[in-house]
Amino acid sequence: MKVFKEARLLRKSLTKYRNTGHSVGLVPTMGSLHKGHLQLIECCRNQNKVTVCSIFINPTQFNNPADLKKYPQNIEKDLTLLERTGCDIVFYPEMKEVYPQPPVVQFDFGNLGNILEGKFRPGHFNGVGFIVSKLFNIVAPSRAYFGEKDLQQLAIIRRLVTDLNYAIEIIGIPTVREQNGLALSSRNKRLTDDEKIQASIIYKALKAGEAMVRNKGSVGDVCNTVVAVLKEATLLNPEYIECVDPDSFEILEKDDISENAAICIAVKIGEVRLIDNLIVRS
Ligand code: PAF
Repeated sequence: MKVFKEARLLRKSLTKYRNTGHSVGLVPTMGSLHKGHLQLIECCRNQNKVTVCSIFINPTQFNNPADLKKYPQNIEKDLTLLERTGCDIVFYPEMKEVYPQPPVVQFDFGNLGNILEGKFRPGHFNGVGFIVSKLFNIVAPSRAYFGEKDLQQLAIIRRLVTDLNYAIEIIGIPTVREQNGLALSSRNKRLTDDEKIQASIIYKALKAGEAMVRNKGSVGDVCNTVVAVLKEATLLNPEYIECVDPDSFEILEKDDISENAAICIAVKIGEVRLIDNLIVRS
């Protein structure tokens, strides 16, 4: 496995593969890798000749400086895991390589970027749009892999690719969960054992919401059901619970009854903010 810190050298190395007709797949990450990331790497390996994983904690997508400061990192462990999973190339740039100067380009994703995460984390999707575009331009992959846990991010990236004509296939991979249902996230490392048990109620709440969608309840009924189950966990503070159309990502109104919905949730548990979702299709 090769590790590149410079975009120029990475690009040069990848040109060699591309010129011989080999497909390149990209898995962008912020490190602190878990089984969810490794699942993305495995899918990428199965579909491409060369798998590139980027590791970069992107400061412009953090609206909360404390969250950025506490974001877990462990590069040695990440490299060992990537090597073991069969990743071919790691792009691990330093800050000045990615941001030689403060960027002036801004990404505005309209309503798609202003709801849910965009509303609670102003500027977040501008930062995501910036770094993902940069990685797409440096790596120029045939395919790029993102987890469905960040469902709004996935919708934003699909829109970025459509609007800017990137010739990249975006592949969303289902969320990987602990046995108790807790969605894997690098932020889980900041939870105590008790908080982890309480956080597993999020999935229980989503499953109860799913049952309500299938019973043809209204969006209001679905959200009330989710809230009621979340109350079982005294440490969880919900930030939002919304149902969106899983294809357009438009918010479904309270009295809508929909057979296809993604129930999206953000909760705070102590200092840690977790997001999760469940896609229900008829
Ligand atoms: O999902 C993430 O880990 C990040 O938002 C991403 C896509 C790597 C961009 O920094």
